Amino acid sequence: MTHLNSTQILLASRPTGWPTGENFEVRTVPLAELADGQVRVRNEFISVDPYMRGRMNDTRSYVAPYQIGGQISGGAVGEVIESRAPELPVGTLVLHQHGWSDVVQADAAAFSLVPKIPGVPNSLRLHMMGMTGLTAWVGLKVVAQMKAGDTVFISGAAGAVGTAAGQIAKLLGAKRVIGSAGSDAKVQLLKDKYGYDAAFNYKNGDISGQLHALAPEGIDVYFDNVGGEHLEAALDAFNDGGRGALCGAISSYNSTQPSQGPGNLANMITRGLKLQGFTLANYLEHAGEFSSQMGQWFAEGKIAYDETIVEGIEHTVEAFIQMMQGKNVGKMLVRI
Ligand SMILES: NC(=O)c1ccc[n+]([C@@H]2O[C@H](COP(=O)([O-])OP(=O)(O)OC[C@H]3O[C@@H](n4cnc5c(N)ncnc54)[C@H](OP(=O)(O)O)[C@@H]3O)[C@@H](O)[C@H]2O)c1
Repeated sequence: MTHLNSTQILLASRPTGWPTGENFEVRTVPLAELADGQVRVRNEFISVDPYMRGRMNDTRSYVAPYQIGGQISGGAVGEVIESRAPELPVGTLVLHQHGWSDVVQADAAAFSLVPKIPGVPNSLRLHMMGMTGLTAWVGLKVVAQMKAGDTVFISGAAGAVGTAAGQIAKLLGAKRVIGSAGSDAKVQLLKDKYGYDAAFNYKNGDISGQLHALAPEGIDVYFDNVGGEHLEAALDAFNDGGRGALCGAISSYNSTQPSQGPGNLANMITRGLKLQGFTLANYLEHAGEFSSQMGQWFAEGKIAYDETIVEGIEHTVEAFIQMMQGKNVGKMLVRI
C-alpha cells in the first residue's frame, strides 16, 4: 500500500486588497490508507480562477467563503492512482473540486469520471472543454440570447472565458465581434488567432471612445468579464434592445473601495436594454449540449486555445496572483 504525502495550500488569513503569499500556507501531510469506496488521485492540472478571490473574503456570495486554515478548493483534473471503488479503477481520468493540492483522496462520489478523448489534452477539461468554455456558451446563448447577425462586445477577451466567448460568438453567426484586453500583444492575438474582427487595449484609456470607434453602428450583445468602466462603455454603445450577460467584474475584485456604478444606467430604460448577471452553477443543464457542440467544433479544428502554465503546486499562489494581474493568455493553470 502506498502511503503518499499530500501537499496542500490553505488560506492562512483573509487578504485585504491584493493577496500576497502571506495569506496562504503550504503544508504537506501524510495520507491515511484508503477506506472502502475511496480513491486516491494524483492531480495533473489545477485551476486558479478569479472567483476564488471572492471566496477569500468573509462575505455573502453564491458560494461559501473559504475558511481560515481550510484548503482552497476548486477545479482540478487528475488520474486515479489507487482505488477501493470499482467504479473508478486505477488509471481513470477524473475531474473534481478538491482544489489546490497535488494528491487528494476521498469518496469516489466526489470525483467525476471524464472519458479520455484522443487528441484532447486533459488540461482542456478545466477550460475550453470545461468550466470556462461552458460559461462563455451559457453567457452568450442562454443569458444574452445572442442571435446570428448580432454585433458582440467581449471584455477580458484574451482570458479563459474571453477566448472561448469570441470563438463561440463567431461560430454562432455574430456579424462582428469586438474584444478588449490589457496589452497590445493580446489585442493582436485576438485578431490573429481568435477571430475577433476588432480589439482594443483598455489600458490606453477612453474605453467608451475606443469601443465607439470600433463599433460605430453600436453593439447588440455585451459579455462582461470586467465591470466598471467597461460596463459603462457598453451601456453607451448598446443599440436599442441590447442584451448584456454580466459574467464577472474582475476590475473590482482586489479593490478596497466600493466600486462605482455606471453613470448611464438610464440607457437601460431609453433603449430597452436587458442586463442579466449569472453564475454557471445555475445553468449546468446546458453542459451536455455544450460538450457535444464544442467537441464537434474542436474535432473540426475550429477551436483555438492558449494556456499559461506554472509548474509545481508550491507556485500555485503566484499563478493565482499573476492571473489576476493579466500575466496569462487563455487559461492559467498549474501543472503538478
Ligand atoms: N459567472 C460565472 O459563472 C463565471 C465563471 C467563470 C468566470 N467568471 C468570470 O469571468 C471573468 C474571466 O474569468 P477567467 O477565468 O476567464 O479569467 P481570465 O480572463 O483568464 O483571467 C483574468 C483576466 O482578467 C483581466 N483583468 C485583470 N484585472 C483587470 C481590470 N482591472 N480590467 C480589465 N481586465 C482585467 C486580465 O487580463 P488583461 O491582461 O486583459 O487585463 C486577466 O488575464 C472573471 O470576471 C470571472 O470572475 C464568471
